[in-house]
Amino acid sequence: MIRRETAGLAALVLLSSTSLSAAEDSLAERGEYISNLAGCHTCHLGEDGTQWKGGTPLATPFGNLLGPNITQDKETGIGNWTRDDFEGALRRGVNEDGDYLYPAMPYTHYTKMTDDDIDALWAYFQTIEPVKFEVESNQLPFPFNIRTALLSWQTLYFEEARFEPDENQDEHWNRGAYLVNALAHCSACHTPRDILGGPIEEKALTGATLNGWYAPDISNGPDSVIRDWSVEDLAGFLANSEDNNHVALGEMALIVDELQEVDPEDVNAIATYLKNRTEDEGTRARKAPFIDPEDQAEGEAIFATNCASCHKDDGEGEPGVAASLVKSGTVIGRSPHNIIRVLLKGIAPNDEYGVMPSFKEQLSDEEIALVANYIRTAWGNEAAPNVNAPMVSQLRPYAEVSDTIELATVCPNPPSDVLNDDFRDRLATLATKRRLDEGAMTTLIDDYTAEFPEVDRGERTLTLTAIYCQNYVKRDDIDRSDVVSAQIDFQNMLVGLDRR
Ligand code: HEC
Ligand code: HEC
Ligand code: HEC
Repeated sequence: MIRRETAGLAALVLLSSTSLSAAEDSLAERGEYISNLAGCHTCHLGEDGTQWKGGTPLATPFGNLLGPNITQDKETGIGNWTRDDFEGALRRGVNEDGDYLYPAMPYTHYTKMTDDDIDALWAYFQTIEPVKFEVESNQLPFPFNIRTALLSWQTLYFEEARFEPDENQDEHWNRGAYLVNALAHCSACHTPRDILGGPIEEKALTGATLNGWYAPDISNGPDSVIRDWSVEDLAGFLANSEDNNHVALGEMALIVDELQEVDPEDVNAIATYLKNRTEDEGTRARKAPFIDPEDQAEGEAIFATNCASCHKDDGEGEPGVAASLVKSGTVIGRSPHNIIRVLLKGIAPNDEYGVMPSFKEQLSDEEIALVANYIRTAWGNEAAPNVNAPMVSQLRPYAEVSDTIELATVCPNPPSDVLNDDFRDRLATLATKRRLDEGAMTTLIDDYTAEFPEVDRGERTLTLTAIYCQNYVKRDDIDRSDVVSAQIDFQNMLVGLDRR
């Protein structure tokens, strides 16, 4: 499900760094790596997708901020900044004039960076082409728009610091601690905040709401969603590796998108640290939740009718068809917010899975609560069955179901995920064509048969048709009957041409 949007970036660095010496070159490369780990681009993106030019709105509890332009443009970017100014933004939360920055820029974490990493980032940002684009970051309403008020915020919540390794732990653990606490700012989203927006340090990583999502407890304490995950499970989820069947939603999808590009050793270090934080020792005991047996039976019945065809009776799902619901953070997070959201809104088909339908129309508030509580407590999931009908009703108005999701429910499930990116791309292209071309279809069948000789004709037809259909629904101006007939046309042609 993860799309990579920074493909142009590496090319840009290569192009613009030809004039630099080899040492500076590799320093800049390392800087690019650090910026991936630190997630800099998620907030400093242009709304048109241009890297670093800024303008992306970032919601805060107090209103919107826009990520500023940090290209080398001298007027609208940071082209006139010195190394010291740059360090000031990262370490001290001030801009080149000494004005305080809003903590939406995670300097509360970056302050712990090593000097080497700041040098590398500085070298990298020197290579960014200037883009002239004026951004007024501060869109907050009065009184939050007054920068000088940030002095008291910084006094309360911010202290310039350096990362201190723990001598009782090995290097790998300490690398993980550094990545989590200084660079990857996991806690920026997963740590609850108090009324002034300051992180509650005693509750670090124990879960927080943001932009309508709930970033669950990842502290490895009693309510943590990663309590029963191994280091490998967690690393697999973070790097979106092949055998991982947990999915990242909302803001977390952006993080996974970045971590996919990161050295697997570093991702493993993050997981190793999170699973072995010293703060969590002795807090792992916990009572199994109690669910009323009658509610459980009703929830199970709703699941069997509406969900099991994709997620299977054991909740494990199937590659290419549906994600696993067992120990999924979405399912077992302390707040059930994300499950309700997913059930009401659905999830559009993507590179990894077909559609997760919206159940907004099919299921009542009561039924959604019952099935949600069932999955929270089934198959060894040990979350509290705390969903109720009023909660669902409250979230209904926020669930607008996209046409793509609506239409994708017409598509069949692929019987297997025997497919690779090349075939996905070709099916996506075919789905944009007005007419199906016999030549292209014949080559598709020939190539597919050569690549996957073990797949029989029936399975081949259904797999290709399902993925074609999932791409066809992304077109504009189509309705259900278009999808049905496109799918039949495709399938008929396939069967007609495929004689093996
Ligand atoms: C979670 C979002 C977020 C992330 C991640 C982030 N920034 Fe920022 N950054 C901001 C916001 C918002 C501001 C503007 C704050 C303000 O106006 O007070 C900002 C300001 C800045 C500034 C000052 C720009 C100016 O014109 O005043 C610099 C430089 C900067 N960021 C660099 C970085 C670098 C380098 C990284 C990665 C190490 C990074 N940022 C990661 C949100 C982010
Ligand atoms: C047509 C197949 C299909 C059906 C039917 C279906 N799902 Fe899903 N579901 C999916 C897919 C596919 C995903 C993963 C989507 C993605 O992330 O791309 C998913 C994801 C989810 C998630 C999010 C999991 C996570 O870890 O984030 C939950 C929760 C969920 N489904 C619950 C249900 C429930 C409950 C039902 C029945 C009321 C149901 N689903 C019916 C296909 C289905
Ligand atoms: C920009 C906000 C943000 C940041 C930063 C962030 N997360 Fe998340 N995370 C979320 C949200 C929102 C969810 C809930 C949606 C989901 O389950 O994917 C989530 C879910 C998770 C889950 C549960 C996955 C599941 O089974 O559904 C794990 C584990 C996780 N994050 C780990 C991390 C780690 C480790 C980091 C730091 C490297 C991190 N997150 C940084 C927002 C964030």
